[in-house]
Amino acid sequence: MAPDILATLDDDASAAVAQAFTTLAVDYLAATRDRSGRVSTAHTRAELAARFTEPLPRHGHTIDEIVARLRDEVLPDSNHLYHPRYIGHQVSAPLPAAIWTEALTAALNNSMAVWEMSPVATVLEHQVIRWLTDLAGYGPAAGGTLTTGGTEATFTALLAARAALLPDSWTNGIAEPAPLLVCGEHSHYAVTRAAGALGLGLRNVRLVPSVAHRMDPSALFAALDAADRPVMAVVATAGSTATGSFDDLQTIGEICTARGIWLHIDGAHGASALLSSRHRHRLRGIELADSIALDPHKMMLLPLQAGTLLVRNARVLDGAFAQQAPYLFHGTDSDQLPDLGVRSFLCSRRADVLKLWVALQRYGADGLGELFDHLCDTARAMYDAVCVHPAFEPVHEPECNIVCFRHVGSDELNRDLRERYNRSGAGWITTTMLGGRRVLRATIMNPRTTGEDVRAVVEGVGETAKGEEEQRAKGDKKNKGRK
Ligand SMILES: Cc1ncc(COP(=O)(O)O)c(C=O)c1O
Repeated sequence: MAPDILATLDDDASAAVAQAFTTLAVDYLAATRDRSGRVSTAHTRAELAARFTEPLPRHGHTIDEIVARLRDEVLPDSNHLYHPRYIGHQVSAPLPAAIWTEALTAALNNSMAVWEMSPVATVLEHQVIRWLTDLAGYGPAAGGTLTTGGTEATFTALLAARAALLPDSWTNGIAEPAPLLVCGEHSHYAVTRAAGALGLGLRNVRLVPSVAHRMDPSALFAALDAADRPVMAVVATAGSTATGSFDDLQTIGEICTARGIWLHIDGAHGASALLSSRHRHRLRGIELADSIALDPHKMMLLPLQAGTLLVRNARVLDGAFAQQAPYLFHGTDSDQLPDLGVRSFLCSRRADVLKLWVALQRYGADGLGELFDHLCDTARAMYDAVCVHPAFEPVHEPECNIVCFRHVGSDELNRDLRERYNRSGAGWITTTMLGGRRVLRATIMNPRTTGEDVRAVVEGVGETAKGEEEQRAKGDKKNKGRK
């Protein structure tokens, strides 16, 4: 007979079971340190799916069996972001103290909807937001909310901008002609996605061209002058997704202030430079924005999820979500520490603030700033390696921890060599299109990654390109032979 389910819960609440799980994580952190293992899987998605195609378990298994499957079937073929040669997407090798906090967050499971559901976490979230708005140079009226990430933060900011321009839109929707949304051509898709979701429609988005991957302020002037309708918001980017470039926030901020237009800064990637003594200057003028997206799960190296939205005036968020819910929102007796659910897109929401608070307690704002600088230095070392390698050309000079470069060969070669290199397990990089051309892209999100590592990746990608070219040459010969 299956063991009693209630007794199983009691057993699983023990330190021994907790340790079985944490040991897996600790072993993973240790095993990736010496660089000997693979960075990622060589299997196809169909092969991995076949591993888990099994009937729904009607009865539970033992912890030992489950831990063994996690160890043997999940861990080896997951992406190892802690491996120093994973330099792919903008997802961190997370701070250890923040990793361990996750279990406590889950154990407490206090929801952020209202203070009565999370008495301490609500207070902590207000406090952490206050620290961040202070760093941004906002005044005492500022506020914000944690979000699942930059996409939700930008969506919420633009919802607030919509409410500011069209206070009736929550009830009546948007009448034609819809207002315009103006953003840089290199904006993250979170911006156009919000335009679609908010009922503006993509045809009412105006893309401003760039110079050196940054929004061209004179083109912004021209776009605003040409606007035949009110502009709901301008979105500038601090740390663009493709190249990590920072728009000129001071100039853009002055333009928006002079015209009374809402400025949102998508600093999901780069606004964490607020913590850095060496890169803070890239954010000059950030305090001119009405709203800022800043993702601690990117350059503050927190585990997913942890985003923030900071606003110069906390009240604007009440306008963003003009919602009644008598079963939850009973009105608040605190102006300073209001319920957070009224200001958030989500209802149930994890207390992600806890890991952010622990990370700040453990490493300090300066420690996190040093890590930011360290990641950028490593990106610079990669750029230097690209510049001296005969097979590669740089595409831009890195402003933070993102480096785009390309093999001097064709677009197809760049695309295929990246896939081949990643499959080799030696390292992992990404790719994007820039100026109509396929480029290779690396993001340094792991403090363990050294100059040696990034040089090894550049060499490895170069060797892979030779292999790919040889194979293509053979393929060409065969094809010619057949003709
Ligand atoms: C500039 C920028 N904005 C927004 C986002 C979206 O953030 P998230 O994935 O946290 O929703 C990203 C993610 O890559 C980004 O680089």
